[in-house]
Amino acid sequence: MSSSASERASERASERDQEQREERGLLRFSTAGSVDDGKSTLVGRLLHDSKNLLDDQTEALKKASEKHAGKGAFSLALVTDGLRAEREQGITIDVAYRYFATQKRRFILADSPGHEQYTRNMATGASTADLTIVLIDASKGVLIQTKRHAFISSLLGVPRIIVAINKMDLVNFSQEVFENIKRDFLDFSTKLTIKDIRFIPVAAMLGDNIVEPSTNMPWYHGEPLLEYLENVYIGGDKNRVDFRFPVQLVIRGHNTSRGHDTYRGYAGQIASGTIRVGEPVVVLPSMRQSTVKSIELYGQPDIESASTPQSVSITLSDEIDISRGDMIVRAGNIPRVQSKLEAIVVWMGETALNPSIQYIVMHTSRTTKAYVDAVRYRIDVNTLSRLPSALLQMNEIGRLSLTASQPLFFDTYDRNRNCGSFILIDPETHLTVAGGMLIDPQPEENESTTSTAGTQPQNLHLESGNVTREQREVKIGQRAITVWCTGLSGSGKSTIARELEKRLFDNNIPVYRLDGDNLRSGLNSDLRFGNRDRSENIRRVAHVARLMNEAGVTVICSFISPFEKDRQLARTIIGEKNFLEVYLSTPLATCEERDPHGLYRKARDGEIKDFTGINSPYEAPINPDLSIRTDKQGIAEAVEVVEEELKRTSRLKV
Ligand code: ADX
Repeated sequence: MSSSASERASERASERDQEQREERGLLRFSTAGSVDDGKSTLVGRLLHDSKNLLDDQTEALKKASEKHAGKGAFSLALVTDGLRAEREQGITIDVAYRYFATQKRRFILADSPGHEQYTRNMATGASTADLTIVLIDASKGVLIQTKRHAFISSLLGVPRIIVAINKMDLVNFSQEVFENIKRDFLDFSTKLTIKDIRFIPVAAMLGDNIVEPSTNMPWYHGEPLLEYLENVYIGGDKNRVDFRFPVQLVIRGHNTSRGHDTYRGYAGQIASGTIRVGEPVVVLPSMRQSTVKSIELYGQPDIESASTPQSVSITLSDEIDISRGDMIVRAGNIPRVQSKLEAIVVWMGETALNPSIQYIVMHTSRTTKAYVDAVRYRIDVNTLSRLPSALLQMNEIGRLSLTASQPLFFDTYDRNRNCGSFILIDPETHLTVAGGMLIDPQPEENESTTSTAGTQPQNLHLESGNVTREQREVKIGQRAITVWCTGLSGSGKSTIARELEKRLFDNNIPVYRLDGDNLRSGLNSDLRFGNRDRSENIRRVAHVARLMNEAGVTVICSFISPFEKDRQLARTIIGEKNFLEVYLSTPLATCEERDPHGLYRKARDGEIKDFTGINSPYEAPINPDLSIRTDKQGIAEAVEVVEEELKRTSRLKV
């Protein structure tokens, strides 16, 4: 389809208008405050005084929103879904979603009971809110509870707060009381990330400043509550930059609107960003590249571009194997791909966090499992201080380190609420036990405890010699490189490494093999199999390989090296052009059947507690140079494949 520049420009302008209309069209907000603060009166007033409820619209809205919160939609929004299930089972998280509309806007109000202990209710309500109304009783002022509510809203990334100072009639509509409370609140809120805070003096019982301006408080010149809710601009909140499309459904086969039957569309809701037809994309986790061929919006078969939060079906120019839980992103703007996670979570389960349970993680449209490695701290919501804690109990908020069995594709929550949040589900009860927000670890936390990885000791001066690497390579007649074999125990790494070493040696190539079991009985005998020690193992090995390469020796490494981040580090240390990553992708079942050292059996019997593939994760390489399955290919053939690749890429040629 071709169109002139002016047509395109007007097309874009009308897309923008459409977006703005949609944004203005719906406001999600939550309320926080207790019965005593007059919250139900306020909610009642809002609903009652804005009477022009459009029934059919409400019904449509309800449906749309239910669909939105459906499984595989947005992660924290999923909480509502989990909660619905819980309510059906008679469990007590209690958030009522109320739908109402005025001429100007539609609203979804997440209304949770204000009992102080129900952090989880409030958090659930606020998790998808554009705005929170925090209620304060003017006769009582700022209470601990007010601070809790503001803190939780801030933590959940709610972009704006309205502080409704209620019961102004009880304080004679005094401006001074209002100003004092406002000052107290602002003093506290400097610790929060919420920038947009409004204060409205109201008397919900009488209706002052709810829908109509109050005649009792002529000193207040701002808008009444409803007017503000109707007009507040929320379009800027959305992440329009990072295109993230979690695939929820693959639609195959006959498509009548297109009249051919090779149609393969990927359906889902755009979690963030915008995409246009013709743009290059990458599919995670396969890292396969393609371009967007078409975008279909319900009822509109061929649109030029689409943005969050639209639900669309996308087709690509190439046939790529994509399934539910994969993510399509724009080439050049790829999210984090990690299975080691740091998160702030609100614990919602009736039973406390249990580190020996492998919880189900639901993140965008992806479901995997994760163990909690550590509770780093618990937050005292009243004082905002951090307390050491081994566990989290119901309603508690804390920071966790987790390891998922498959990597998640995510952005941090502060950047992207949809791709930065997840829920944890108990695998036995199927109840939602936590809502979490992914954060960046502090830089120093990336480092191993047992090493100085990443930090440069002071007062060192690198000494270069009189013989360069290139001179050595010319003399030997070969470049020296590192072949890095990664895969599960029993996948064939060591066997291939041994054979390859022999072949290269017979071809007069100086070569040496570094093997996990061998190094762990010498240089690395201080290391065990926790995540940090495994990282340190790989870091040391990478340095050894690099030194050997510099000395002119080609190195073949065989290490499980289960973490993508560590293999990336090895690649960086050794150097991209000297590094060949060979992934032994033999399936776990085959490896376990082979069980060369009887370790799988021990792991199954519980004698080894963090054995890769059984109770410790393996992150498959995202983009290995070679992938070999030794259950499908003989060793000789596999070694040939590696040799071929070395020749093809001239890696060993000076
Ligand atoms: S890595 O994870 O740090 O890369 P590495 O390759 O050095 O592991 O060592 C793996 C070898 O250690 C395995 O081949 C196995 O013989 C032995 N081993 C002992 N305990 C474990 C464990 N818990 N997980 C994996 N391998 C183990």
